[in-house]
Amino acid sequence: MTERKKLVAGNWKMNGSRASANEIRAMIEGAEALRDRVEMAICPPAVLAGLAGELLSGAALGLGGQDCHAERAGAFTGDISAEMWADVGARYVLVGHSERRTAHGETSDMVNAKASAVLRAGLQPVICLGESLSERKAGATLSVISDQLERSTPIPDETAGIVIAYEPVWAIGTGLTPTLDQVAEAHGRLREALCDRLGDRGRGVRILYGGSVKPDNAAVLMSTPNVDGALVGGASLKAADFLAIARASVGL
Ligand code: PGA
Repeated sequence: MTERKKLVAGNWKMNGSRASANEIRAMIEGAEALRDRVEMAICPPAVLAGLAGELLSGAALGLGGQDCHAERAGAFTGDISAEMWADVGARYVLVGHSERRTAHGETSDMVNAKASAVLRAGLQPVICLGESLSERKAGATLSVISDQLERSTPIPDETAGIVIAYEPVWAIGTGLTPTLDQVAEAHGRLREALCDRLGDRGRGVRILYGGSVKPDNAAVLMSTPNVDGALVGGASLKAADFLAIARASVGL
C-alpha cells in the first residue's frame, strides 16, 4: 500500500494581521511535537508572508500561498507569482479555491496554468475543486469533480508533488459537511481519476478534504478512505483548534 503522510493546511483567507504572530508561534510549538506524524502548513494573506516566512523558517509548520499568477514576473498589478512565494520560503500554493473560481471568474484552464506555475517554481500546488449545492442536488457531483480534476491538473514530472483538495462549495464556511459515505465516494472517484491520468503515481497524490473541518469532526473525516488530510478555513485561525485538527488527523 502507498503511504501518504497526512497534510493539514490552514487557509486564512482575508484574515489575520501582524498580531497573528503570537498565534503562529503557538502553532509552531504544537507542530513540533507532530513533526514525524503529520505535515502542516498555514496559508496567510500575502502581506503577512514575509513575517510568517521568517517565523516559520526551519519550523515543522510550512508556509503556503493562497493563490498565484501563472507568469513569473511582469506588468500584473496586484498579482504575486509562484516564484515570489518560493522566495519567501513557501512550500505550497493553493490554486483554484472556490472563492477564486466564483468571485474572480477563474476557470479550470486558468487553474491548470497556475498549478503549472507552482510546479515550475519547485513548490506543491494544492489544486482545489468541488461541486456546488445545485450540482450535488442534480446528482452531478462525481462528473463535475472528475471534469474539474481533468482540466485543472497538469501532469507533473516524476519528482514533483501535487495535492488535490476536495471542497464541496456548500460545505465551505457553512458548518455543513457531506456524510462520510459521500466523502468516501468523492475521494474514491478522484483517486481513480488520478490513476487514470498519472498511472501508479496517482496513488501517491494526497487528496485533502475541505469544508467546515473542525476539531470535533476531524477524526472521523480524516479516517475516511482516501482522505489524506484537511484544508481548514475558519478553524485554522486559532492555534488550539488548528492543532487539535492536526492531532485528530492522525488519531491523537
Ligand atoms: P472552512 O473553509 O473550513 O471555513 O469551511 C475551508 C476552505 O475554504 O478552504
